[in-house]
Amino acid sequence: MGRIVPDLVEQYLSRLNRQSDTVLDAVAAAGAARGLPLIDAEVGALLRVLAGAVGAARMLEIGTAIGYSTIWLAGALPASGTLVTMEMDAERAREAREHIAAAGLSDRVMVMVGDARLMLAKVAGPFDLIFQDGDKQLYNPMLDRLVDLLRPGGLLITDNVLWDGEVVPGFIPSPARRAEDTRAIAGYNERVNAHPALRASTVPLRDGVSIAVKHRSP
Ligand code: DHB
Ligand code: MG
Repeated sequence: MGRIVPDLVEQYLSRLNRQSDTVLDAVAAAGAARGLPLIDAEVGALLRVLAGAVGAARMLEIGTAIGYSTIWLAGALPASGTLVTMEMDAERAREAREHIAAAGLSDRVMVMVGDARLMLAKVAGPFDLIFQDGDKQLYNPMLDRLVDLLRPGGLLITDNVLWDGEVVPGFIPSPARRAEDTRAIAGYNERVNAHPALRASTVPLRDGVSIAVKHRSP
């Protein structure tokens, strides 16, 4: 449970959400057993709603982990759609591929292994939706490239923008997160919300989800 939304409210939201499925539940359980920082099903449902709302046929994800958010997103793809997802850790990427196969999505999802900063130079846009959930120190350095890769009207969605509330000055009496990461995310939030090519809104769901739409005209 997060520290932003009170536990009882999170439990209420969880009960309302009926969009999960057996593969997603199994991947979530595998992640929880190892303490992996996956999104939760409520953020997953938000991703799927947003992907459907913009008719996303081409998506990009930074930070695959074991494929949980990937499956939430890819579940909104049309049959001819594609999702490219980038993961630093080869073992996690291998597991993600297994989970994506179990969800019947291997034909639409490509898992790339390596440093996303380098791989971003090689992928071709435009993407309808980009989900940023990778290394928090890299949110800022990647931002302009991700905006370039987005189609006008496309969405840049970012996880963990409230960082357990630690980006909010004075909110957490004894911060437990690495201060560099907290500073990086706080700086990223300022930039996304002031970015000339974006209009942004921050949803305080779970650990904070930023949703930004790229302007349709420059
Ligand atoms: C961390 C990363 C995440 O993407 C997340 O959702 C939660 C925690 C982390 O690096 O600690
Ligand atoms: Mg995250």
